[in-house]
Amino acid sequence: METIAPKCINQLVKELNSHQVHSNELVSGIVSSISFDRYEIEAFNTFNHNLKDSYGRKLVYDSDRFKILVMSWLPGDFTAIHNHGYTEWGSVHFFGEATHRLYENSHGTLDVICKEQFGEGQNAAVCGNLTHLMGNNGKKAFVTLHIYGKDSDENKVADDAMVYLPEFQKVATTSGTAYLNLDRSLIKSETPYNAFSDEMIFDYFKLIAPFYCRNNQSELLKKLESKINNEIFS
Ligand SMILES: [Fe+2]
Repeated sequence: METIAPKCINQLVKELNSHQVHSNELVSGIVSSISFDRYEIEAFNTFNHNLKDSYGRKLVYDSDRFKILVMSWLPGDFTAIHNHGYTEWGSVHFFGEATHRLYENSHGTLDVICKEQFGEGQNAAVCGNLTHLMGNNGKKAFVTLHIYGKDSDENKVADDAMVYLPEFQKVATTSGTAYLNLDRSLIKSETPYNAFSDEMIFDYFKLIAPFYCRNNQSELLKKLESKINNEIFS
């Protein structure tokens, strides 16, 4: 992919290509130095994404070393809990207020360790083993700009990303997609997994319920509610 518009993306590509070795500090400095025009980035929006996809995802640049994507977040859009596979460095730039959760796998159990909001103009660092979830818990749609890169020659950026799916008691691997209720065609492998802390489950189910609501998955919602009632309040 050689020709890229708008100018701010071209500048980002040029700056990233001018370094052989990258760290998150370097990438954060580059991203902070560029004046991103929200309206130019919004031209790549996928707010019309299929509502069965839990957010909009558009690739705007791809090379051996890094990918740039624009993600689109309608109210109620969320990722599944995921990491970024072989990504060695990266960044997310926010053009609206996003809900974010950070997770840690401690002794085989996944727990939520940080609940936060990111605002317009903020940047967050990304690496392969960052296990997180993000989405739109507000009322206004927005986009985010994502950079995922690696300097080593082995593997592909974001390949073998792990996606935790507590509502199906499993963990899957994908080529980077982190949709809720992943379509089978996007799953590379999957393993049964059901070691989640009660706090994590309660928080997660509240965040993802609107997605299953809009897709009329009432049976699954009932299952989630019953799990919360049985495990949290009994
Ligand atoms: Fe992510």
